[in-house]
Amino acid sequence: MISWERSINIKTPYEVGIMREAGRITAEALAATIALVKPGVTTGELNAAFEAVQKKYDVISPFKNYPGPYPYPASICTSVNDELVHGIPGDRVLKEGDIVSIDCGTIYEGFVGDMARTIAVGQVNKSTRRLMEVTDKALEIGISTMVPGNTIGDIGYAVQTYVEEQGFYITRTYTGHGVGRKMHEGPQVPNYGRPGRGMKLREGMTIALEPMVLAGTPETIVRDDQWTVVSADGSLTAHYENTIAITADGPQILTAL
Ligand code: MF3
Ligand code: CO
Repeated sequence: MISWERSINIKTPYEVGIMREAGRITAEALAATIALVKPGVTTGELNAAFEAVQKKYDVISPFKNYPGPYPYPASICTSVNDELVHGIPGDRVLKEGDIVSIDCGTIYEGFVGDMARTIAVGQVNKSTRRLMEVTDKALEIGISTMVPGNTIGDIGYAVQTYVEEQGFYITRTYTGHGVGRKMHEGPQVPNYGRPGRGMKLREGMTIALEPMVLAGTPETIVRDDQWTVVSADGSLTAHYENTIAITADGPQILTAL
């Protein structure tokens, strides 16, 4: 989300192969980061763990210095509890019962992989677990619609319908996006929509689908740090994201954990 070139860039199978490697490295770095999540760890330590794996592969994150109110200062976003997206890693100590959404990416050979998962810190209560499960399932349901001939509206409709049936809310302010040589390309991919509306999906499109789900209201506000997006009512939020290639054989997830 945020801002991007509106151009839609169709990838060749060779380019999709490069993006698969970008996604694989991102997933490996995220897995190493998730392994550290426990009460007492700081979000800054999670950022450092992610960067350590990237260093091994001599790759960098597209998040670092991403243009915004000021250049984004870290390699990942760590958004805790009511923080929906774009939380900045730092001194915050995670505690038992928190949830942390880790959003991260890699530039490999000029192509971007982009993904996010919400992770429990120790034991979380049942309603928190349900929010996580619904958001994860919403991503899966959205992906299943990503076949050539379906539309952007079909994706959003599937995600929105499921999330709202489960009693949760979708932000209208932030969306998924095309991804490729740039982290944010066209098309914009809302997590809400109407069947049959919007652009048709075509083979070779690569899209980051990222349901952002709120427990109490769809409204969000941006904190004084100008990056962190929080739920307006302080309710819990979750965020799952994959980079997906649209192919004749169906959707291919390039960022499987
Ligand atoms: N990965 C996120 C997205 O899908 C957010 C990146 S924000 C950044 O748009 F500023 F950190 F880059
Ligand atoms: Co994204």
